[in-house]
Amino acid sequence: VAAVSLEVDGDVVIVTGAAGGLGSAYARLLARHGARVVVNDTGGVVDGRDGDQEAAARVAAAIVAEGGEAIADARDSSTVDGARAVVGAAVEAWGRVDGVIANAGILRDRTFLKLTDEDLLAVLESHLLGTARIFHAAFPVMRERGYGRLVATTSASGLFGNFGQANYAAAKMGIVGLSRVLALEGERFRITANVVAPVARTRMTEGLLGRLDGHAAPEQVAPLVGYLVSRACAVTGRIYSVGAGRVARVDIGVTKGLVSEAMDVDWVVGNIEAVDAEEGYVFPTSAADEAELLP
Ligand SMILES: NC(=O)c1ccc[n+]([C@@H]2O[C@H](COP(=O)([O-])OP(=O)(O)OC[C@H]3O[C@@H](n4cnc5c(N)ncnc54)[C@H](O)[C@@H]3O)[C@@H](O)[C@H]2O)c1
Repeated sequence: VAAVSLEVDGDVVIVTGAAGGLGSAYARLLARHGARVVVNDTGGVVDGRDGDQEAAARVAAAIVAEGGEAIADARDSSTVDGARAVVGAAVEAWGRVDGVIANAGILRDRTFLKLTDEDLLAVLESHLLGTARIFHAAFPVMRERGYGRLVATTSASGLFGNFGQANYAAAKMGIVGLSRVLALEGERFRITANVVAPVARTRMTEGLLGRLDGHAAPEQVAPLVGYLVSRACAVTGRIYSVGAGRVARVDIGVTKGLVSEAMDVDWVVGNIEAVDAEEGYVFPTSAADEAELLP
């Protein structure tokens, strides 16, 4: 069997939050396979405060030192102007944008009772609005050439729930909805949109991974993300859980349900367990797809 290489040579890919952790692993893998990479990162600490203007430049310089092509961008890509400017920098440098990996984001973990509005907004802004804005800036550029690869970042915390992360989970599940719509709207322009829920040892998860702490490296997430941003990517609207050497598909299922001609509250009380039963669940690919299941 011939070795299959990552099909990204010459492609222009923007990676947000690429100064460390997962983002830098993505940027380096892509650059090693000939992609031209925009390394975007504000260089802040995990909660988003402060900012090391040189953080993105260091990763870009390391890529160039290894023989790759990269430019650094230290702008806040979660703002409307910042996102436009990052896309503008890619277009100015290389005339196109083939892929965007929306990976940047911050944490402000608090139980819901202690969550302030500031921490709610900051997290929604960085993950959900940040992803929407960088995609929004890149989408018309991709449509122009009839090609694009969008990869967004969700989390098991959003998909399945996690104590103390209401703001983060809300943002991460919002990203799933956003990406599913972009998969539908992007189809006619050959733009794909997929989502990854990574698990990796980074500064964000330091001391939180328990038994996985020793071995879940960002480099074990990068191959799937590389595939999703490559020309070979044959899927769209998908969600993958990836880390520690495992890749699995996550999906949003609907149970077979029950139909009643005369549904009243007593009927609901008597049938809620049957409604919940998992046998025969399916995974609709759009709202219209789900509507087909209604009687
Ligand atoms: N590590 C994991 O196990 C894990 C699990 C689930 C989800 N994630 C997600 O993966 C992504 C990467 O996280 P990581 O673990 O590599 O952590 P990380 O803190 O190393 O990476 C996040 C990067 O985003 C940058 N950033 C934050 N706000 C920015 C902004 N507005 N503009 C530009 N850059 C900005 C930060 O400076 C940082 O370098 C995040 O979206 C995170 O929520 C990670």
